[in-house]
Amino acid sequence: MKTRWSCGERTPPGKPGAKGEGGADVILAIETSCDETAAALIDGEGRLRANVVSSQAELHARFGGVVPEVASRRHLELIVPVISEALDEAGVTFDQLDSVAVTQGPGLIGALLVGLSAAKAIAWSRGLPLIPVDHLLGHVSALYLDPVRLEPPFLCLLTSGGHTLLLDVQEHTSFRLLGTTLDDAAGEAFDKGARLLGLGYPGGAALDRLAQGGDASAYSFPIARLDGLDFSFSGLKTALLYEVRGLEHGELERRRADLAASYQHAIVRALVERTLQAAEKIGARQIAVAGGVAANSELREAFSSAALAPIELCTDNAAMIASAARYLKPIQPPGYLDLDAYASRQLA
Ligand code: KG4
Ligand code: ZN
Repeated sequence: MKTRWSCGERTPPGKPGAKGEGGADVILAIETSCDETAAALIDGEGRLRANVVSSQAELHARFGGVVPEVASRRHLELIVPVISEALDEAGVTFDQLDSVAVTQGPGLIGALLVGLSAAKAIAWSRGLPLIPVDHLLGHVSALYLDPVRLEPPFLCLLTSGGHTLLLDVQEHTSFRLLGTTLDDAAGEAFDKGARLLGLGYPGGAALDRLAQGGDASAYSFPIARLDGLDFSFSGLKTALLYEVRGLEHGELERRRADLAASYQHAIVRALVERTLQAAEKIGARQIAVAGGVAANSELREAFSSAALAPIELCTDNAAMIASAARYLKPIQPPGYLDLDAYASRQLA
């Protein structure tokens, strides 16, 4: 199992005293919205006790994207070992839990239902409350964990494989949508670009690495400048496609790093420009960046004075779900038994 840890402080395995100082609540959080099976434990002070993420990326790579049915089946195989590993690492037993949090949506319905069913089963069997968490609120809530410990209000650029959102965050439990993408999400643009450059799936991180050896000014890729605060990345992807098609094989090999660097630079410029416009429009004094694409090295450098989610908490994980859960109202048993997952949500 591939496991990665968050940077926050963590209680060594087996150390007694699961609760935070003052006996604060211990939350088990579960995330299965796409192709990562994840479980985390957090205490009442917001300190992470465990953060286990098992990625299915290799399983889906041969299909060039996530296959929903394959993802659900893999979540089923991994959910119990991942939760057990998180409990072991935190030195916490089921008896020491105070509540269970879980991603309710948006995401792949079959995948979400595996996590939701597991969370209901654990909570119901122990008579514990359940905290359903929105995945997007989760990404934002990664910013509330160590070492960032950001507090609202702030303007958040949430940029992932499924979403590219500018959010006005005034409180921990909600946000106001300022802008979104009209076509591809930035992460999708990275993944499609990576595919055109022969980097496999998901290609964002690989494109980031390839770009480091390239010249970002070698190609001038267009960025969409729409009215308002929305994004569009489909034209950029088409421009890369034409460049790639225009090169014969040997030349393409030689120019791959330059293409990657120029393409990445265009995405980053679009994200930075729009975010600064939004900040000016709402008079934001603090900018924050979260979501999978926030792991990108050029984006992090461009936003070096912003609050950046810790790299290991940018892509999907359950620590961010645990963080969001700390601020949400738990549902007491049996109120959550008929709770359903949702694939998408209306962002007003
Ligand atoms: O947040 P996330 O794990 O999943 C969604 O909620 O969508 O984001 C995954 C996305 C993928 O598109 C992946 O290629 C992208 O984040 N990503 C990156 C980097 N690391 C992950 N994109 C650019 N540069 C990176 N270093
Ligand atoms: Zn996500």
